[in-house]
Amino acid sequence: MRNSEDRETKFNRMTQDRKADHIRICLNEDVGFKNKSTGFENYSFIHQALPDINMSDIDLSLNLFDKVLNYPVIIESMTGGTELSFQINENLAIAAQKLRVGMMVGSQRISLEQPSLAYTFQVRHTVPDALLIANIGAIQLNNGFDYENCLDAISMIGADALALHLNPLQEAIQYEGNTNFRGLLENIKKLRRKIEMPIIVKEVGCGISKEVASRLVDAGVDCIDIGGAGGTSWAMIESYRAKSDCQRTIGDTFSDWGIPTAESLNMVKSAVPDIPVIASGGIRNGVDAAKAIALGASVIGIALPLLSPALESPLLVENVLNRIIEELKIAMFCTGSANLKELGNTKYLVKK
Ligand SMILES: Cc1cc2nc3c(=O)[nH]c(=O)nc-3n(C[C@H](O)[C@H](O)[C@H](O)COP(=O)(O)O)c2cc1C
Repeated sequence: MRNSEDRETKFNRMTQDRKADHIRICLNEDVGFKNKSTGFENYSFIHQALPDINMSDIDLSLNLFDKVLNYPVIIESMTGGTELSFQINENLAIAAQKLRVGMMVGSQRISLEQPSLAYTFQVRHTVPDALLIANIGAIQLNNGFDYENCLDAISMIGADALALHLNPLQEAIQYEGNTNFRGLLENIKKLRRKIEMPIIVKEVGCGISKEVASRLVDAGVDCIDIGGAGGTSWAMIESYRAKSDCQRTIGDTFSDWGIPTAESLNMVKSAVPDIPVIASGGIRNGVDAAKAIALGASVIGIALPLLSPALESPLLVENVLNRIIEELKIAMFCTGSANLKELGNTKYLVKK
């Protein structure tokens, strides 16, 4: 008994250390892709010098999973499990509530294994109205987690939806990774049958192919979050955490692995045109956000650019989001798109 308790404490400490490493590395190192971009630069809008709309009337709101979002933006999963991450989550949540955008918490696995850490994810009191999304690694469904653990993750934060993340590359590169993905889709399907809540499946920076999108939707998944290449590279992050030169080189080798976000978005929309898609992975300004929506995304997701502001204050998070929203609005104005539906149907986005 004592031995298994010791093992568990040690394991939880390792998970906490890993989370702290991720934050530290993302704040201090260049964790971008080396030679790969999102692909949005291959598109441009044909400027409309005579938009027949009043910019101040542009409506950026939408409904997602029965929640109203004032803007098509989701703060993507980042953290939880440590006192610092509680502060980060609180600051992100205050900004999400103020702007009424969505928020997805970081992987809750640690708090399911160590319930005393649940508070670091519990921001519902701060975001009473905003769309709040729970998060765990899909791979945990192959490692003993079942639908009851997922229900616990959802009820722990009073979530409106559950996101399962897929991160095979990261698991393969990190020294404590879980790489047995055999049968995982079947486990996602089983979970789908038992959980009524919307299920989102997301990548974390390598994108979703059209084959994977089709298989996920056949399994009953409600929404796909692209998590494409061109933004944060988990191969780079794990390379900075490497314990040996060999591992560092492996991380480096895969630093450009993945499907660029714009390409993945096209693949997913062609394979499963009818389900909502979140475009994330390297979205850094409102013009790219507008391009993503014009290519079929319902909303866009942003992670890394919000991390450093969230360490400081909710206001800094808000400032970044407000700038991106303003850019998106200007792009809509200059293409004569009065709302997100019109932007989604625009004929003014062209491939260069
Ligand atoms: C510090 C950090 C921690 C992250 N932790 C998680 C996580 O726990 N669960 C998850 O699904 N994605 C996680 N991600 C991935 C992001 O949600 C997102 O998919 C990815 O970073 C791509 O978006 P970006 O280019 O805007 O950063 C994390 C990202 C960062 C930067």
